[in-house]
Amino acid sequence: MQHETPRICDYEGSDYRTRFWEGQGRSYEDRVERAVLQRLLPASGQRLLEIGAGFGRLTPEYHAYQQVVLLDYSFSQLQYARQQYGDKGFLYVAANAYQLPFMPGVFDGATMIRVIHHFENVPGVLQQIRRVMQPQGRFILEFANKRNMKALLRHAMGRQNWNPNDLDPVEFVELNFNFHPAYIQKELTTAGFMTQERIPVSFFRLGILKRTVPASLLAGLDKVMQRTGWLVAPGIFTLNTAQNSTPNNIGLIGDALFACPQTGALLRRDGDTLVNPDGLRWQIRDGIYDFKAPIH
Ligand SMILES: C[S@@+](CC[C@H](N)C(=O)[O-])C[C@H]1O[C@@H](n2cnc3c(N)ncnc32)[C@H](O)[C@@H]1O
Repeated sequence: MQHETPRICDYEGSDYRTRFWEGQGRSYEDRVERAVLQRLLPASGQRLLEIGAGFGRLTPEYHAYQQVVLLDYSFSQLQYARQQYGDKGFLYVAANAYQLPFMPGVFDGATMIRVIHHFENVPGVLQQIRRVMQPQGRFILEFANKRNMKALLRHAMGRQNWNPNDLDPVEFVELNFNFHPAYIQKELTTAGFMTQERIPVSFFRLGILKRTVPASLLAGLDKVMQRTGWLVAPGIFTLNTAQNSTPNNIGLIGDALFACPQTGALLRRDGDTLVNPDGLRWQIRDGIYDFKAPIH
């Protein structure tokens, strides 16, 4: 069921970094994702938007861009990222991806990795991303594949109450969705993206394999499997370019980059706040642009 105002999976104050990544036996997945990103990213770029950047796990991969804007709904995740990377070449933005606080056409790159599975309104978020990208901008999207091998087998054995072949997203835990590749494909096209490449990843996401085979070897084998293009892996990376015409505003610098998330109007800097023409103000605190709620 889709709610009128889409729900948000809130990571504020979450221990995601230590609970899910550090020392949690996922170096194989981490390696694979970094390697695929390196393959899909350009040799150089101007401004990249990392949507759902979290604590900045993948941020170092974006070094080819002159500026990286880390956007996340969680202020605390961004605080950690800022401690790691500082301000040179980086901007930190706490905001809801359903209401991106940017002028149109200001990014030539965008990534969204391990994030879209938290979105119940996929068309809504993809339209926002398309709006802020310049024509031909490169958007790398990773999504969780409902048509993965394990789900297909469980379904064939009658051990699963949902069908991996159905096009609709499946919400297996509250605000955690898996998607059919054809569904994502359709929504990307509708939002105005053309998909250049789809890469299935993490074929060997099995506890026993990860415990017994070195991550580097598994990642190497995964690379071989990726070349088959067989879309039955648990994750799929897609490389997309923005189509149709939007203004190319990539040259907008500094605070001119920002638009009011409620009205879309250009924001003006006033001390430690950004103000819209109606006087609505957004705060910059701890070096983070905070668009979660206006201040009064
Ligand atoms: C599973 S984490 C992935 C973080 C990072 N991309 C990575 O791969 O390590 C998902 C992130 O999406 C963010 N997120 C979820 N819903 C969001 C929304 N509506 N707007 C912005 N960020 C959101 C969460 O705060 C969280 O940091």
